[in-house]
Amino acid sequence: MKSLFINIQDLVQVRETSVEKLSGEEMKELPCIKNAWLLIENDKIADYGKMDSLPEFDNIQAEDLSGKIVVPTWCDSHTHLVYARNREQEFVDRINGLTYTEIANRGGGILNSAKTLQETSEEDIYQQSAARLEQVMKLGTGAIEIKSGYGLTKEAELKMLRVIKKLKQNYSLPIKATFLGAHALPTEFKNRREEYVDYVIDEILPEVAKQDLAEYIDIFCEEGYFTTADTEKLLKAARECGLVPKIHVNQFNAIGGVKTGVNNNALSVDHLEVMRDEDIEVLKNSATMLVALPGCSLFLGIPYTPAREMIDAGLPLALATDYNPGSAPSGNMNLVVSLACMKMKMTPEEAINAATINAAYAMGLSSTHGSITKGKAANFIVTEKIPSYAHLPYSFGNNEIDSVFINGKKVN
Ligand code: NIG
Ligand code: FE
Repeated sequence: MKSLFINIQDLVQVRETSVEKLSGEEMKELPCIKNAWLLIENDKIADYGKMDSLPEFDNIQAEDLSGKIVVPTWCDSHTHLVYARNREQEFVDRINGLTYTEIANRGGGILNSAKTLQETSEEDIYQQSAARLEQVMKLGTGAIEIKSGYGLTKEAELKMLRVIKKLKQNYSLPIKATFLGAHALPTEFKNRREEYVDYVIDEILPEVAKQDLAEYIDIFCEEGYFTTADTEKLLKAARECGLVPKIHVNQFNAIGGVKTGVNNNALSVDHLEVMRDEDIEVLKNSATMLVALPGCSLFLGIPYTPAREMIDAGLPLALATDYNPGSAPSGNMNLVVSLACMKMKMTPEEAINAATINAAYAMGLSSTHGSITKGKAANFIVTEKIPSYAHLPYSFGNNEIDSVFINGKKVN
């Protein structure tokens, strides 16, 4: 099956040869073809070029995209999309003056979500999660990572990971699963943090590996959650099971988690709202991707990841939603790209690179996704008629998407 798109006003993020990731200055450039055509064959990008050199194609009905722009679908490399209920009450409590930490300390936050998830059936969680996934696909997400971490018991963590597995089976976009058993300390383990880490390592991790339920390992390395020593221990054990680290670090406090991640060859270190010079230094010359989650900063009113400082230091940066019921109840990558420009002073070129090719790298997909490259998956967004790609972040909060294609098929 072939499909041809013609008169594309701007074909964005065209890479003749695919790049792995973009760092520093490289992020400033976003290669495009103006007035372009794009040929899809089955589920892959087959060819593209300028309209004035459009070849003769027999028996193909071309779709005219005059005035519209084509961008690779967003890659969302950090989400907690599988959960059992929203937490609007905590949102209201924060408006009325409580902090995220105060809410967590009185049993709200992650523990609140864990309690609900433990009590909810696997089928119910699946249905809720599938609805969220369909919603973000319509918003242009064409590859996604999803974490466990609202189970916090062996039974409930495995239940979450089975839900992710079922989503993988039923949806055509790539989904990567991350085991986040060390997300918070369950009440039953109060004052026994090290015992909980051992429980995660000895009881849950082997089962996750045996049932092949996750590609990545995550931990919330943060004051009041888990230490760098816990992180070191967990990542080492996970490596033996073949799980690669992608970890939560430097959200509220910088306690050395960035270094622990880099030393353990983390594919990405995520959050990074609070960064010290030494954290920036340690990331230089590493293969680790930095991931910013501006939706979380917006929602919690915490600092934004210092993207300018990082990019100006020559580092790579990816953007993701952190979609979860507590700190970022939105899976809208378009808004994330807007926030990156408005609040983190990233240019539209940097933000689009961060949300496509660099985000693909942060989930091990940059050889197959994240750019318009021959042989890559035909995952792309067709915009409404808009004047330029900069209009996407500019027009914040508006939906400028006409349609989304995944593996060459239109998402309904
Ligand atoms: O990435 N920081 C840790 N975990 C999530 C929030 C989880 C929650 O509040 O439910 C995050 O922000
Ligand atoms: Fe998160």
